[in-house]
Amino acid sequence: MVENAGRPPRLRHGARAFEINPYTRWVYDHPGRLLPEPSPQALARLRGADAARRPLRVELGSGSGRFLVQQAARHPQVHFVGFELRFKRLVQSARKAEQLGLDNVWFLREQGEHLFRYFGAGTLEGLIVNFPDPWPKAAQWRKRLINTPFLARLYEALRPGGWFQLKTDHSGYFLHVLALIRSPSPWTLRGFSNDLHRGGAVAGDVRSEFEQLFASIHKPIFHLLLEKPGGPARECAPDARGDAAR
Ligand SMILES: C[S@@+](CC[C@H](N)C(=O)[O-])C[C@H]1O[C@@H](n2cnc3c(N)ncnc32)[C@H](O)[C@@H]1O
Repeated sequence: MVENAGRPPRLRHGARAFEINPYTRWVYDHPGRLLPEPSPQALARLRGADAARRPLRVELGSGSGRFLVQQAARHPQVHFVGFELRFKRLVQSARKAEQLGLDNVWFLREQGEHLFRYFGAGTLEGLIVNFPDPWPKAAQWRKRLINTPFLARLYEALRPGGWFQLKTDHSGYFLHVLALIRSPSPWTLRGFSNDLHRGGAVAGDVRSEFEQLFASIHKPIFHLLLEKPGGPARECAPDARGDAAR
């Protein structure tokens, strides 16, 4: 643990943040996997010298890390980075990665909107957004993570053949994103579903915590997989059920 690093501010009534929420302190217990006060340089140090040679997949709003950690275990040659804001979920994510002894997944306490401070043009193989906060009221729509400038910058950040995968239970959010990619669009549509789990589970399926929850109550899940054209020919189609790996 890094002693006194990022000491949480004193709250209005006098208690320090970690006295209310111990996870604000525990985020400092996993320096090799979790960056509570991240920077592009600090992430680059953790990823090491061969980072440029490794495919890179990022999840925004990675929650408690179930999806990303399982993906990292399945694809040891790939680097995975999760952006998440909540202390407890970040600690849970780091603990999961530690339990499996993974050295190819890192979590940042960072806003998803800052993605492009970390990764330049042509550097990402894939971006995953599982069940983003929907901000359902019209007055909140401006807070939605995915918007026109975001998609334009993401397109630049992806390498040719790179992809963007979205899952949501919220039809309004799904329609919002579909409207953003209405033609003419540079993207190739690789996957689309308005009820991804219709027909039941598939062997090897990787589901996030929220995906498990919604599946358990039979709530339809909307799914979109977009690809930036120009990559090598595919040997097989990406698995739309949660693993967009080739
Ligand atoms: C509905 S939860 C989904 C969590 C996870 N992706 C899953 O499917 O189980 C949305 C997550 O996004 C995180 N989040 C919300 N706004 C964010 C932002 N601007 N940047 C990064 N994470 C954010 C929340 O803290 C929360 O953990």
